[in-house]
Amino acid sequence: MRVPFIGGNWKMNLSLTEAVAFVDELKQQLPDKNEVETVIAASPLFLSAMIDHSLNSPLQIAAENCFYEDYGAFTGEVSPKSLAEIKVPYVIVGHSERRRYFNETNDIVNKKVHSILRNQMTPIICCDETMGSLDSGDHFAWVVNQITTALHGIDEEVAKQVVIAYEPSWAIGTGNSASTSEAEEGCYLIRQTLADIYSDEVADEIRILYGGSVNDQNIVKLMQEPDIDGVLAGKASLQPSEFVKLANFKRLK
Ligand code: 13P
Repeated sequence: MRVPFIGGNWKMNLSLTEAVAFVDELKQQLPDKNEVETVIAASPLFLSAMIDHSLNSPLQIAAENCFYEDYGAFTGEVSPKSLAEIKVPYVIVGHSERRRYFNETNDIVNKKVHSILRNQMTPIICCDETMGSLDSGDHFAWVVNQITTALHGIDEEVAKQVVIAYEPSWAIGTGNSASTSEAEEGCYLIRQTLADIYSDEVADEIRILYGGSVNDQNIVKLMQEPDIDGVLAGKASLQPSEFVKLANFKRLK
């Protein structure tokens, strides 16, 4: 059974004070971790404090990015080893904003996936689908290539734990979510790709999320789809009350 995963990606928003207040406000209002996993990804500057404030609560705190080396002359980068040291469980990798603004390629994503797993953390591998690839009709190949390259060299036992997020960039930050069937189609394609790379059994264990303008109005339908195991919300994760609604999607109508 794949435990539903409700994630928030704050991006470069909120302050340290707001981040800690957010955790304090919502930590008692979240479902049990065995029933629904709740995860917020935030700036590396906030992580230690957020982790301290979320102790003894179901909320898990994730990083939005890291570098692929543990140490070295890489000014300004965040070491995966330092994230592991403060007990970060998940790291987002390959978000479309990183691909677009910071030239993160599939090969870099693959290196980061290896380094995150080597440090006993779990990557949340984002898979973009640009408007360009949609227009030219090759978005299936585009998605398959991202997943195949990101997981290159990852053994099947380890692969079972990764989380993948299908995030069409035309749906991110636009208020225009993919339709339920478009989101399911993307997540299904990813699961078929995982079955081709590994096996049906491995593909059945890996959680696949949808991201792109998720809110309390569309989450219930999205979560009913067979291949959507969770969501990664941007804007809707910035308000504690909104995130609490997403986390408790089973009680929404
Ligand atoms: P929005 O929910 O604001 O569209 O952002 C989604 C996203 O980028 C999650 O990683």
